[in-house]
Amino acid sequence: MDKNFLKDFPILRNTMNNRPLAYLDNSATTQKPESVVRSICGYYGGCNANPHRGVYELSVRATKVYEDARKKVAKFLNANPREIIFTKNATESLNLVAYSFGLNNLHVGDEILITIAEHHSNLVPWQRVARATGATLNYIYLSADGNLSVKEIEKKLTRRTKILAVTQISNVLGLVNDVKTLAASAHEVGAVVVVDGAQSVPHIAVDVQDLDADFLVFSGHKMLAPMGIGVLFGKKKILEEMPPFLFGGDMIEYVEEQTTTFAELPQKFEAGTQNVGGAAGLSAAIDYLRGVGFAEIERIEKDLATFAVAELKKIPYVELYGCEAENKIGIIAFNVRGVHPHDVATILDAEGVAIRAGHHCAQPLMKFLGQNATCRASFYFYNTRRDVERLIESIQKVRGVMHLA
Ligand SMILES: Cc1ncc(COP(=O)(O)O)c(C=O)c1O
Repeated sequence: MDKNFLKDFPILRNTMNNRPLAYLDNSATTQKPESVVRSICGYYGGCNANPHRGVYELSVRATKVYEDARKKVAKFLNANPREIIFTKNATESLNLVAYSFGLNNLHVGDEILITIAEHHSNLVPWQRVARATGATLNYIYLSADGNLSVKEIEKKLTRRTKILAVTQISNVLGLVNDVKTLAASAHEVGAVVVVDGAQSVPHIAVDVQDLDADFLVFSGHKMLAPMGIGVLFGKKKILEEMPPFLFGGDMIEYVEEQTTTFAELPQKFEAGTQNVGGAAGLSAAIDYLRGVGFAEIERIEKDLATFAVAELKKIPYVELYGCEAENKIGIIAFNVRGVHPHDVATILDAEGVAIRAGHHCAQPLMKFLGQNATCRASFYFYNTRRDVERLIESIQKVRGVMHLA
């Protein structure tokens, strides 16, 4: 059943290089439906003022837009609104946890455990924290099918592990990690669990209570919302004990010449003027996604991924990565033998097919896979089987264009 989402996404009706656009770079960022664009225009056209600061009607309206968005996100994740901190993006949320929680709780001999499949945003901050505290940064490696190796988890998760930071879905391989089981094992050894939900929250239903995540982060722009708005969920008890990350206006209770007391949650972590228009857009994005339904989103993306993998497997010179596992959503990493991924992406671009090529901000994973770079096609629910067919048709032209056929 094709619900024809395209009517809601005018950008997808555009042409690229005189061909209809097949936008297959949704892991990088998603397109925005008209309802999201309208909500942002509506905010700036009717409610714009600095929230929390004014007593006049417009400022009260801006505060309501912002705080209603927080309530919407809280309900969406099954959390308490005080546990929802607005940030710029998943990267800033992870830095907040690393700097405020990590720097203040880790000591020499402690271990931070991450996986080799992490995005640099869930890796580089932990390197910094490890260096500053004397803690060790350890990695869980993957088994042959691309999944986290159970043996590795059993070996590496120990009483020395103080933080387990793991992506729920790999932005390169599209594999879904069983974060709930991982969190339970981590809690048994007394570790705090940080979940990178940048690729999961847009695509599958995520319930922080069910996962028992201590922290979970995501970016609005990967789930129909504008760029510049992100979320950190943290358990209230842990957030309350953490010092602020950024300092300045709005996050204080009282300031004296030499000392300051800080505001309660969530304001303690939201220094300076916030992105209210972005929060309005995120709220509208959640409404849209709820309207489609996560069961339907998963069904469409699984269908596209299964179709794409089956078709790609028929092309003898295409190499696929992490495509044997069952727990896979619509992210496909591949290479065309003998052709650099950037050349592949450029040739596909000429056909109107937009894919990503490079290291995908996951260089340690690339090294683990023995590749410098790969191509990546990533789907969202508004993609169609025709988009996949165009991907395949254009890949079949690549070796000819490169005079290899
Ligand atoms: C798994 C994962 N984590 C974190 C990020 C960082 O997201 P952002 O650049 O929006 O902060 C990304 C972006 O691609 C990602 O895929």
